Amino acid sequence: MTPFDHNFRLGILGGGQLGRMLIQAAVDYNLFIKVLDGDPDAPCKFLAHEFVLGKLTDFEAVYQFGKTVDVLTIEIEHVNVDALEKLEAEGVKVYPQPHVIRTIQDKRVQKQFYQSHGLPTADFVLIDHMEDIGKHQAFLPAFQKLGMMGYDGRGVQRLRSMADLSKAFTEPSLLEKAVDVAKEISVIVARNVQGDVSVFPPVELVFHPEKNLVEYLLAPAQLDQLTIARANEIALGVAQKLGIVGLLAVEMFVTPSGEVLVNESAPRPHNSGHHTIRANFTSQFEQHLRAILGLPLGSTDTQTMAAMVNLLGEEGYSGKAHYQGINDILQIKGVYPHLYGKKSTKPFRKMGHVTILDNDLAELKKKIIQVQETLKVISIK
Ligand SMILES: Nc1ncnc2c1ncn2[C@@H]1O[C@H](COP(=O)(O)OP(=O)(O)OP(=O)(O)O)[C@@H](O)[C@H]1O
Ligand SMILES: [Mg+2]
Repeated sequence: MTPFDHNFRLGILGGGQLGRMLIQAAVDYNLFIKVLDGDPDAPCKFLAHEFVLGKLTDFEAVYQFGKTVDVLTIEIEHVNVDALEKLEAEGVKVYPQPHVIRTIQDKRVQKQFYQSHGLPTADFVLIDHMEDIGKHQAFLPAFQKLGMMGYDGRGVQRLRSMADLSKAFTEPSLLEKAVDVAKEISVIVARNVQGDVSVFPPVELVFHPEKNLVEYLLAPAQLDQLTIARANEIALGVAQKLGIVGLLAVEMFVTPSGEVLVNESAPRPHNSGHHTIRANFTSQFEQHLRAILGLPLGSTDTQTMAAMVNLLGEEGYSGKAHYQGINDILQIKGVYPHLYGKKSTKPFRKMGHVTILDNDLAELKKKIIQVQETLKVISIK
């Protein structure tokens, strides 16, 4: 069966915004999409051809869902991998493959993977008990990261000195040396069923000062050719060594001396690739579909310089979402809001994003500020 046959079924584990944008790309290929998610109000609820309610971490829910599709993919990596392994053994095409998800799902295993495969990454030690931190004081200041279930800045914290020990996580974690970061960048790689690979040009991430969330992203990243080549080579190396089929977003640090270190990877479409919907010849979502369906990969070339602004819930507002100022930003050339369809807002919740296109960097930066100052997600009674 080919993906273009009428009875072909693509399953997505997760019905959030990434699944939603994957469906948008899938519509162009006339694919039949089934989505599994534990939230009855998930952003994909009314967009999937079939929406199944079920917990992504539940073996039976994932297994039964997987039995009904031809190709199964994910939009979030916190899923039941045992069920995926059984499905794979029984002939369901699961991309990214379960072994890749298992490696990435646990940050401890992920970091060990980089280390054992000679991929450059910051020094770290595994922490099984809080007392272990005391034994590694030389690592401080450091970042402590939970092994499992860290997401969107939760599960990662900075420990400056032993005085911070009282706030340390007690679950299995890792302690990673703080890197002197000049720039945070991300490279999205695609590897298809046949093993062909392609990379999107690096993007540069600018972070919110309080939360560990991207505030805006600049694409392509302003880097010298040598650093770009190095970043691409490392990202490709991670994808090849994992043997992943699908998209892999590789987050990296560039140090002041130009060294490039892998921070972490995500085996799926990524927040750092949203601009590609408008700014590149092929979007990351279309590329993911091409990769997992065994189709030729598309050109990742940049059509125009772009920025992406995350639309976060305003501080002090919780409840039914209201998008203040949206009509004003719609009047600016090259500004495209994407709302994720989340009913209620709360401080810092990712409610959407805005893509901004302008080939003039100074103009682009002006528009970023304009969008950030104008568009606010607040709540209404
Ligand atoms: N070793 C380090 N040195 C310096 N900064 C770091 C280090 N590790 C993490 N950070 C900072 O903390 C942020 C979050 O860390 P990381 O990407 O590991 O966690 P996360 O919660 O999985 O992130 P995401 O927001 O991508 O889900 C990084 O983007 C970076 O700004
Ligand atoms: Mg990260």
